[in-house]
Amino acid sequence: MNRMRDKTAVITGAGSGIGRAAAELMSAEGARVVVADHDARAAEETAAAITAAGGVAMAVTVDVMNEDSIADMIGATVREFGGPHVLCNHVGGTDPRADLDLLRMDMAEFDRAVGLNVRSTLLGCRHAIPHMIRAGGGSIVNTASVAALVGDVTQISYGAVKAAVVNLTKSIATQYGPDRIRCNAIAPGAVMTPALERNLPSSVVDSLRDGNALPYLGAPEDIAHAMVFLGSDESRYLTGQLLVVDGGMTMRSPIAAGRRAMLPPASDGPGHQLPDQGTLLVE
Ligand SMILES: NC(=O)c1ccc[n+]([C@@H]2O[C@H](COP(=O)([O-])OP(=O)(O)OC[C@H]3O[C@@H](n4cnc5c(N)ncnc54)[C@H](O)[C@@H]3O)[C@@H](O)[C@H]2O)c1
Repeated sequence: MNRMRDKTAVITGAGSGIGRAAAELMSAEGARVVVADHDARAAEETAAAITAAGGVAMAVTVDVMNEDSIADMIGATVREFGGPHVLCNHVGGTDPRADLDLLRMDMAEFDRAVGLNVRSTLLGCRHAIPHMIRAGGGSIVNTASVAALVGDVTQISYGAVKAAVVNLTKSIATQYGPDRIRCNAIAPGAVMTPALERNLPSSVVDSLRDGNALPYLGAPEDIAHAMVFLGSDESRYLTGQLLVVDGGMTMRSPIAAGRRAMLPPASDGPGHQLPDQGTLLVE
C-alpha cells in the first residue's frame, strides 16, 4: 500500500488503457498522481476515480507532440504536488493503416511516430530531469514495446521508434545516473486495451494469444504492476534496463511449438503428469 508514498508520479496517456491502470495502482501505493492526457475528459475521469478511491490526483491536459504543453504539464506538477519523482512517458503508438511495410508505408506517419513516441519521451525527460536533480533523484519509466525487439511484416515505423525509445532510455540512465536518476523502459507484449481492440481484427488478436507462451493475453494491470515496481524504490539498483512483459511472446524459439511433437507422451515416462494423474515432478 505504501510502495510509492511521498512520491509525485506523472503519467502521460493516463486517461485510458495501461496508463490509467498505472495511475490507479500508483495511487493505491500512496503516490500523488498527475493524470496527463490530451483527452481532457478521459483524464478527468481517471483523476475522479482515484479521488473517489481516497487517493490524490490531478488531471492535466497535455499534447505530448507539443513541447510547450509538456513544459506546462511539468510546471503544474511542480506547483501543485512537488516533484516530480516519477515520470512515465507512456503515450505512443502508430496508425497500423498507414504504418505498413517499407514500400507502402506513409512517411507522414513515420514522422508523426517519431514525434509521438521518441520526441515526446525525450522532451518529457528534458523538462522533468532538472526538477528530479533538485529533488535528489527520480525514476523515469518509458514505454517501449516488444516491437522494438523483433522484425515484423508491417508497422515498420512502430518497431523503429520503440527501439529508439530503448536506446534513449539507456543514454538517459547513463547521463543522469550520477544524479540518482534511474531510467528504465517496459516492453509490453499484446495487452487488451481500447487501442488494441480498436486497431486489430479479432483473428489477429487470436494469433497474438497463440504466440504467447502463456495461454492468455495481458491486461493493463499486468503492465501497470511492472511500472509500479520500476517507479518505486524497490528497483533502486535497476537502471537502463528494458523489462519485457509479454506473456513469453518474444523469449521462445519460434519452432518451440512444433518441437512438442518430439516429446514422448506423458504416459511414457516421468514428468509433466498432472497431480490427479499421479506423479508430479521428474526425479
Ligand atoms: N496495448 C498494447 O498491446 C501495447 C503493446 C505494446 C506497447 N504499448 C504501448 O503502450 C502505450 C499506450 O498504449 P495503450 O494500449 O494503453 O493505448 P490507449 O489508446 O489505451 O491509451 C493511450 C492514451 O494516450 C492518449 N494520447 C494519445 N495521443 C496523445 C497525445 N498526443 N498527447 C497526450 N495524450 C495522448 C490517449 O488519449 C489515450 O488516453 C503506447 O506507448 C503503446 O505503444 C501498448
